[in-house]
Amino acid sequence: MAKATALLLCWAAAVQNAGAVSFAVPAQAKTGGLSYAPLDPAPVGVSLEFFTMPSYLTNVTATLQCLDNWRALTGVWPPVRIGGTTQDRAQYDPSTSAYVVYSVARAADAPMTLTFGPKFMSLAATYPGSVVLGLNRAKNNIQNTIAAAKVAVAEMKNLLAIELGNEPEYWVKDKQPIASGSWNNVIDRASQNDWNIRVGSAIGRTNIIQAGNWNDSPPQWGAAGLIATENATVRQYVRHYAHHNYPGGSIQKLMTHSTTSQNVRGFNADVASALAIGKEYVLGETNSVSGGGAAGVSPTFGAALWTMDYILRATYSNISRIYFHQGTVGNCQYCAWGRYSMGSPYYGQYIATAFMAGAKHITALDAGTTNYAAYATFDASGAPLRVLLYNSDYHTGGTRSSQPFTLTGLTSSTVRAKRLTASSATARADQGGDISFGGQTFTDVTCKIAGTETYETSTVSGGQVTFTVKATEALLVYLQ
Ligand SMILES: *[C@@H]1O[C@H](CO)[C@@H](O)[C@H](O)[C@H]1NC(C)=O
Ligand SMILES: *[C@@H]1O[C@H](CO)[C@@H](O)[C@H](O)[C@H]1NC(C)=O
Ligand SMILES: *[C@@H]1O[C@H](CO)[C@@H](O)[C@H](O)[C@H]1NC(C)=O
Repeated sequence: MAKATALLLCWAAAVQNAGAVSFAVPAQAKTGGLSYAPLDPAPVGVSLEFFTMPSYLTNVTATLQCLDNWRALTGVWPPVRIGGTTQDRAQYDPSTSAYVVYSVARAADAPMTLTFGPKFMSLAATYPGSVVLGLNRAKNNIQNTIAAAKVAVAEMKNLLAIELGNEPEYWVKDKQPIASGSWNNVIDRASQNDWNIRVGSAIGRTNIIQAGNWNDSPPQWGAAGLIATENATVRQYVRHYAHHNYPGGSIQKLMTHSTTSQNVRGFNADVASALAIGKEYVLGETNSVSGGGAAGVSPTFGAALWTMDYILRATYSNISRIYFHQGTVGNCQYCAWGRYSMGSPYYGQYIATAFMAGAKHITALDAGTTNYAAYATFDASGAPLRVLLYNSDYHTGGTRSSQPFTLTGLTSSTVRAKRLTASSATARADQGGDISFGGQTFTDVTCKIAGTETYETSTVSGGQVTFTVKATEALLVYLQ
């Protein structure tokens, strides 16, 4: 009997959770003993694998609409990066009239070698937002890279920065020419500095290089180590620093808030090094699991929630922009959209963009040590704008637990909220799963928003309100 009661209590606790978690919303940015980060007007961007860029921009209907959906929220076209493994397999061919020239055995393959022509840059120039263009360093043909960079500078009014090489730590394994003698992090730093000066001076641009671009964890490969080797001549050519990141793991591990917070903390020292010399730090290529994603993890609602939480923990940590990788069209588990279907991660990118739209600062109200996250954004006057609540308890079926979140310090009498939800962490947008945000969905092929926008309204009493967020669910609360 006693045993049964204990079991019952245990079950009740699991379903309802211990009690409300409570967060005080500061009345003004930069108060309340919290840490605040300034926000880029469009922190969420995409990274298009180099050889796929022409397909995404000319032959995948969803692309521009998916990006325009974020522009509709922020007023700014999202940042785009063009690059990836195939950037270091590509050589510029000024004589080709094609965007890209390559052949593959199967449509799902990425080419082992390719060329691109001036039209590649002309096409990138048509994108209405900023573009980071990744060029080749691995082939050790600097004149070819300079020739392409000159066209980029001449054609692309939207050119934010140029990368010189992608993930150089893998060039020995990839048998790339520049690494054919010795190659390690020390040699790569000297090589980056040398190329930054030579390419920057050849194109007559300072503040133009996105340096770094490693995927292996810092500090061995990282901005702090690179910055320590740069003199003033090199630094004037560097616009900002970038790292890649693919945390991986099971759905549950990936979406757990404390895991994500810990993963992002791994970049703190590099971010601080960049900020200390007045430069930005970005996640230049990132997604859930490397190598195009994991079929059982990357296309799921759990991965969408990770996407959301990861973006917010990153911006809170002074990472200016996060570029989510879109790989081979038709062979990409983590893609936010494809030619025929939407991907679950798009919902995470969308809610994060909606949460930060128009905001000037972000803070995290929680310490990043539990399953329950709370973030707040602040407008230009410093007033709190929105709060985002996330319950990262893992739910795939059976009785669904929920977590009450209490917010205090509110000044309005009612607040509205939109919920990001699905029946399970394993729900998949590309397989008809029931993911929705504020009652709305994104349509396959077109990326048009569908359904009626639905807000929940709650009454604030004594500056306080409690929301219930189910396991594997998030709530965006609008304070204004
Ligand atoms: C566009 O994509 C379709 C479907 O994969 C393909 O058959 C076609 O060749 C592509 N067109 C261009 C111009 O790339
Ligand atoms: C700065 O460093 C580069 C190599 O990274 C070197 O070639 C150059 O001579 C240095 N300039 C000065 C002024 O020390
Ligand atoms: C982000 O940078 C600001 C300075 O702009 C600093 O006050 C804050 O502590 C930094 N945030 C983190 C999480 O390090």
